[in-house]
Amino acid sequence: MISRCNISEIISLYIFSAWYWFVEWFSRLLWLRSGLAGQVFMRCEGRTALITGGTTGIGFEIAKKLLSFGMNVIIGSHSSSAESEKCLQLLRSLYPKSKVEIWYVDLTSMDSVKEFAEKYLRSGLPLHILVNNAGIMFAPYKITKDGLESHMAVNYFSHCLLTKLLLPCIKQSGNPKCKARIINVSSCLHFLSQIDFSDLNSLHSYCPHHSYNQSKLCQVMFTHSLNRFMKNSDCPVVVHCIHPGVIYTNLYRYVWWAKFLGPLLFQKPEIGAEVAVYAALSTNLESDGGKYIEEYSEVQPSKYSQDQEYQSRLWNETWKILQPWLDEVDDIPSDVSE
Ligand SMILES: NC(=O)c1ccc[n+]([C@@H]2O[C@H](COP(=O)([O-])OP(=O)(O)OC[C@H]3O[C@@H](n4cnc5c(N)ncnc54)[C@H](OP(=O)(O)O)[C@@H]3O)[C@@H](O)[C@H]2O)c1
Repeated sequence: MISRCNISEIISLYIFSAWYWFVEWFSRLLWLRSGLAGQVFMRCEGRTALITGGTTGIGFEIAKKLLSFGMNVIIGSHSSSAESEKCLQLLRSLYPKSKVEIWYVDLTSMDSVKEFAEKYLRSGLPLHILVNNAGIMFAPYKITKDGLESHMAVNYFSHCLLTKLLLPCIKQSGNPKCKARIINVSSCLHFLSQIDFSDLNSLHSYCPHHSYNQSKLCQVMFTHSLNRFMKNSDCPVVVHCIHPGVIYTNLYRYVWWAKFLGPLLFQKPEIGAEVAVYAALSTNLESDGGKYIEEYSEVQPSKYSQDQEYQSRLWNETWKILQPWLDEVDDIPSDVSE
């Protein structure tokens, strides 16, 4: 495998991340962040949310917040049954009035994603909020059994497939007065990326930083395309994406220095979860989708991500790659331009 890592790209990644970290800290020091206090949320009691990667890190805190608001939560996780059981006991003891379950899904396997989605549809549960949160970062090179690079599989393709398979249920759960929402947990690092359409799955050359950043850029572009598709087909569903902040979690397991500096310098998972909960519940974000949210406001994502030609190209390429796991009669059109 040829390495495509480029030292100047890695230096700019660290400078860019440090800048983000500095701005987040500064706004916290100056009390510019108001947190969730004072935000107006839509009704939550008895509604149902699904979160991928919700047993650790930001996802776990999102689950806690939604449960505390009276929502029922299903968590998609690849943790062992012992770990899941421990997490479940904890959540049930903290929020005895809400329902929570943890179901197995391995997002490196599209068969597993399909089984998980089918189980969800069979359960007859509604789905008001889908949070595509699970992710891996800067992992060693791995091509999954489906022929997908692991960052692209876990962070991007699995979530596209999951969303597509659950779409009938999501559409049914929303209504014009209270739309269903899909939240894609992306990253500010999407700003540093462009898509390599000639080698989307790094089959010819690999750099973990490129693959992570590209997968997060794909999530932002998918957010735009899917939201446009929902709008064009008059569905009561809005799609947003977020950058949760620079948060110390297991995501940094492949960044050697983070275990020393992360606990001191990065923010806590609760802070990242607040951004996701804001995107999922705020009444400010009800009418129009396709927003990229940082902190508590809409920010313009990268110029590249807003290019509709690239968005359509990615959209078409994505469904072509995922075709083996889709039904033959497929209601996703090949073109989503306005
Ligand atoms: N932390 C940050 O600074 C930061 C910044 C920007 C964006 N984000 C995004 O925030 C999201 C959450 O990350 P985090 O910081 O909370 O990291 P985390 O604690 O590592 O959480 C990621 C979750 O994804 C799960 N996951 C990984 N591979 C999976 C697979 N094959 N199948 C099913 N689940 C899988 C993990 O499960 P296991 O723990 O069992 O592997 C974990 O629960 C990610 O999408 C990340 O890109 C984070």
